[in-house]
Amino acid sequence: MDQLQKVKEYYKECDESYQHWGGEEIYSMHHGFWGENTKTHIESMVNMNRVLAEKLKIKPGDKILDAGCGVGASAIWLAKNYDVEVTGITISELQCEKANTFAKKEGLSDRVTFYVRDFQNPDFKDESFNIVWILESLCHGEDKGKFTQEAYRLLKKKGRLIAAEYWLVRSYPKLNKLEKWLVDRWLSGWRLPNLWTAQEFKNYAEKTGLQNVGIIDITKNTSPSSKEIFKRGASGYLVNKYIKKRTPVQMAHVVGCIFQYLALKLGSWKYQIIYGEKI
Ligand SMILES: C[S@@+](CC[C@H](N)C(=O)[O-])C[C@H]1O[C@@H](n2cnc3c(N)ncnc32)[C@H](O)[C@@H]1O
Repeated sequence: MDQLQKVKEYYKECDESYQHWGGEEIYSMHHGFWGENTKTHIESMVNMNRVLAEKLKIKPGDKILDAGCGVGASAIWLAKNYDVEVTGITISELQCEKANTFAKKEGLSDRVTFYVRDFQNPDFKDESFNIVWILESLCHGEDKGKFTQEAYRLLKKKGRLIAAEYWLVRSYPKLNKLEKWLVDRWLSGWRLPNLWTAQEFKNYAEKTGLQNVGIIDITKNTSPSSKEIFKRGASGYLVNKYIKKRTPVQMAHVVGCIFQYLALKLGSWKYQIIYGEKI
């Protein structure tokens, strides 16, 4: 099975788990950003949208591509809070259908549209967008370099790219045996083919042509979410296996939930935002 098929299958089988995580009808599928005044899990996930949007200095009329949009939670939030047009792409037909239904229900179909496309080969015209937003989706990309080239091509002049992601602290071959063991279980459970370091991505983005590329470490703000993912995975493992009789894909997802946190505690990865501009 190729990587795109693996991701489709994963999100089909694990949809219920993500729905549970996102809590609300239009469920977010990302870590929360916990600031000093954040009180709830749902609030933390909305905060993540706000933090990225503020960094982007969104302007009225901006056209935004949400690459790897899930069921559209961030795209719909952006359209509700800013005078922008958002195009969301996901590789999952199920998510795309749900996202378009949610946009319609919110009365936003004129400004928010979703398509099934691969963000490594998105097939939009050059300079179609002011912003490319990718939130915990690049991790699934087999060819992260191809995504970066495409993002650059799709940006208009003065366009901005933002990528909020899990990044290894050292390139994979430089991890020690234990780190590799933990990271491998996390990656295969969540169907992530590889992870880069933030510096590897920054170097590639600069080679592609992006400028003013910066890395912001927000691991402290996201680690309460990583811990919560771990707690849900660890506490539900046996129930999922023997009582709920989850499928192998669903059980691997639970294992991924446990190992991402163990790898974080060992210091093997960080949650970082990368921002760059097309001048
Ligand atoms: C963890 S979810 C994040 C969703 C959304 N950004 C959010 O925060 O709610 C990862 C998303 O990336 C999408 N994805 C993974 N590989 C993709 C690809 N090659 N092209 C487009 N979407 C992809 C998945 O379908 C899913 O929607």
